Amino acid sequence: MTILGHSIPNRPANSSLDSVPCGGKDLLTVAGIPANQVLRLLQIARDLKAMDRSSRASQWLAGMTLGLLFEKPSTRTRVSFEAGMNQLGGQAIFLPAEKIQLSRGESLADTALVLSRYLDGLVVRTYDQAVLEEWARYATVPVINGLTDLCHPCQALADLLTITEKKGRLNGLKLAYVGDGNNIANSLMEASAKVGMHISIGCPSGYEPDQRITDWAREIAAQSGAAIEISHDPAVAAKGADVLYTDVWTSMGQEKEQSRRLKALAPYQLNETLLAVARPNAIVMHCLPAHRGEEIAAAVLDGPQSVVLDQAENRLHMQKAILTEWLGRPWS
Ligand code: CP
Ligand code: NVA
Repeated sequence: MTILGHSIPNRPANSSLDSVPCGGKDLLTVAGIPANQVLRLLQIARDLKAMDRSSRASQWLAGMTLGLLFEKPSTRTRVSFEAGMNQLGGQAIFLPAEKIQLSRGESLADTALVLSRYLDGLVVRTYDQAVLEEWARYATVPVINGLTDLCHPCQALADLLTITEKKGRLNGLKLAYVGDGNNIANSLMEASAKVGMHISIGCPSGYEPDQRITDWAREIAAQSGAAIEISHDPAVAAKGADVLYTDVWTSMGQEKEQSRRLKALAPYQLNETLLAVARPNAIVMHCLPAHRGEEIAAAVLDGPQSVVLDQAENRLHMQKAILTEWLGRPWS
């Protein structure tokens, strides 16, 4: 197909879960990143975190510009990518979808092709994973998933960094995710399967993670040694966990379902009772934003086992690793 004189490759079937070779153009899912590149990202993020701000890294992406095309609100993802770009010597342009001609009917394809003439990479936050894949298909520059309804790979990658820092390893740990089997649960499942970390999800019936991702994760887990468990009992999920994780019950775009969700998910609150069945030294994680008194009790979110601020900070270090890998590759 040719659009604006540019030849567009056909999208492969099942592309959202296809493995791409190391250095693939886009970062759309954790599943699409080879396991060795996940480990490499963790190492780069750790190195960047330890580096002085005035080090040579401060010029690695000099002259480069990242676009951030967001159809949903964001605090952490937007600011960590913008700050990360600045710290690596480049710059970022925030492009709220409602403020560009896309909102007046300009096509996604034309927008992606034009933006690719100005930018060195594009972070997209949207609803449908298929729309993200369209951006990746038309853009000639790397497209990074800044969250879709299906998954949030940059969050899960940063979370691996936090868990490694707090626990000294990933392989063989047990992560319990309680609550809604949403985009965060899906990406954590993909990430756990990749690195050999057990994941146990406790969610109500009808709120399970994506079936296709679950099947994929089970296949990969069989090779990596991870266990992927899904139950409807939060205490079963949390038992003996090294990491307890939860996320909002009503994700962006689900506001109309809020009252039904609050009712169905109420028994899945991450509170002190649930914390008591995990390991005594378990850490508590939440990608934020949080709703105290809904998916997590205030005493747990603000308590001594909570690592949520370190977790939020690590978004910055992992975004920088992602940017160097997908935009610059100064390490190779
Ligand atoms: N955790 C996360 O992605 O936060 P934002 O929605 O603020 O970017
Ligand atoms: N599940 C949440 C994550 C926010 C970072 C949402 O999609 O709204």
